[in-house]
Amino acid sequence: MKLSKNELIKYKSVHRKITMVTGYDFPCASIADECGIDVVLVGDSVGTNVLGYTETSQVTMEDMLHHVRAVARGVKRAFILADLPAEAIVSPEDSLYNAEKILENGADGVKIEGGVEITGHVALMTRHNIPVCGHIGYTPQKMGNKAVVQGKDLIQAQKLIESALSLEKAGAFMIVLELVTQELAGEISGMLTIPTIGIGAGPLCDGQVQVINDIAGLSPRTFKHAHAFANVRGEYSQAISEYIKEVREGVFPTEKNAFGLEPEVLKEIKGWVGNSSEAASGQAADTPGTCQADS
Ligand code: KIV
Repeated sequence: MKLSKNELIKYKSVHRKITMVTGYDFPCASIADECGIDVVLVGDSVGTNVLGYTETSQVTMEDMLHHVRAVARGVKRAFILADLPAEAIVSPEDSLYNAEKILENGADGVKIEGGVEITGHVALMTRHNIPVCGHIGYTPQKMGNKAVVQGKDLIQAQKLIESALSLEKAGAFMIVLELVTQELAGEISGMLTIPTIGIGAGPLCDGQVQVINDIAGLSPRTFKHAHAFANVRGEYSQAISEYIKEVREGVFPTEKNAFGLEPEVLKEIKGWVGNSSEAASGQAADTPGTCQADS
């Protein structure tokens, strides 16, 4: 059975931590779902982790819809959350139009970056029954690639608290806190009835989100906020290097990886090949070459 936004909210009240991981394609999303993840986030980090863009702000709605459809084909239980990319949130009406498209393509809710300034977008979407998750703290769509920890002084903390409260009031059902100081993340989590999901925001949030490439060890870089629970990059490298070596050395494939013919069929084919090549060479001898005729 599919997880709903109300169940995710309920998890907070019973102190059950919410688990979220990014998923960009069918295999990763289905593995995460089989493992029992609560939320698969089709993040706009697909841009830098999969598509080779330099910034998440380059991600288009077309990119998002393509990846949302792939993830939706792989997920049975998890809640599928998808980012509204930067180009999709120019006005509240844009956000509503694009959020509806994202849901039509298989997501269960959308995530939008921004604080107080985007509460109008959130209010319009939630009035149209779209489950909306906020995202405050470090917001890469607006702040670019320079990841800076947020909430380090009173002014910043006040702004973040004000944003969190206004997003909840506008109807958001969850809020991602990215690179927010852990004490402040704890304060915000305590002030809200909706769950907070931290990434680089410490253990006091109601749940955690990580980028799949980081936790699987596929990213070439490591980050303080993440932890590689495996070495998928190393495993990929080893598999591809051994494959190259074995093909070059003629070690792979062997007969075990091939499909054979029945001996009588092979005989028939060889006979036919012999006859047709004799016929072809006879015909060639009878036919004057076109090059000769032209010269
Ligand atoms: O796009 C993304 O991966 C995200 C997470 C970092 C929360 O927004």
